[in-house]
Amino acid sequence: MKNILSSASESPGTEALLILSTITGMTKERILLSFENKIDDELSKQTLESATLRSNGFPLQYITKKCYFYGLEFYIEEGVFIPRIETETLVDLALELIDRENLRTVVDIGTGSGAIAIAIALNSDCEVYATDINEKAISIAQKNAQKQGARINFLRGAFLEPVKPFIHKIDLIISNPPYIPTTATLPKDVLAEPHDALFAGEDGLDFYKQFFKEIEFIKGKHVMMEFSLEQRDQLKELCYFGNISFFHDQFGKIRFFHIKI
Ligand SMILES: C[S@@+](CC[C@H](N)C(=O)[O-])C[C@H]1O[C@@H](n2cnc3c(N)ncnc32)[C@H](O)[C@@H]1O
Repeated sequence: MKNILSSASESPGTEALLILSTITGMTKERILLSFENKIDDELSKQTLESATLRSNGFPLQYITKKCYFYGLEFYIEEGVFIPRIETETLVDLALELIDRENLRTVVDIGTGSGAIAIAIALNSDCEVYATDINEKAISIAQKNAQKQGARINFLRGAFLEPVKPFIHKIDLIISNPPYIPTTATLPKDVLAEPHDALFAGEDGLDFYKQFFKEIEFIKGKHVMMEFSLEQRDQLKELCYFGNISFFHDQFGKIRFFHIKI
């Protein structure tokens, strides 16, 4: 199995262990310490199938059904975006803002697995709403919120539509939206993620353009979003209605912006 995985992974031994543990239900310790190659044919077939999928660039998280964000373990499945470590800084920035400005109500637009919303709900006293257009994302996010004991109101819909009826009480709109240009070349494992979570038109700005149209006339809100550095100048132009400021991630790369409208 290590050989199969070596084409897709820098640590084929560890990945083989994780796949074997997922398929057999045995702990990694048990596999390492007492495993005697005695798995039945069906499990052996499933393990080989998973290793082959992985060697073709299928993300390991979709095989193990686990990912980690902000120190928490999340359930994940194919069809839902895998949260990235860089986005943890967006949560840090939001929590600082919530504290400094005494914000009470937050909405996470495009919540995916629920990562941002859950991290904020567990680390603040805010009332938290989370939305997504993807039905599967909403159901996985609900599952994660339940698992973590986070109280979140989930709503399905595009952009601000689901929260429009009570937008007056929202203090902070946070989002890590799709922002990759459709022309970009991406590695196979990223392409295995849902494309409506990744791509936003030829320039990657489609989500911001529509979203900015919707927030332009709402007053007194904070907006915090993730973006790609190459989009900074266009974003400044698009955001003629509010004060935009930029922040870097934990690796020193400008990746987030804040708007006060
Ligand atoms: C890059 S993923 C981010 C997921 C999660 N917030 C995270 O950081 O891990 C973008 C998410 O936005 C959702 N999405 C895409 N277009 C949307 C729209 N117009 N309105 C609401 N959600 C949208 C996708 O389904 C996906 O879950």
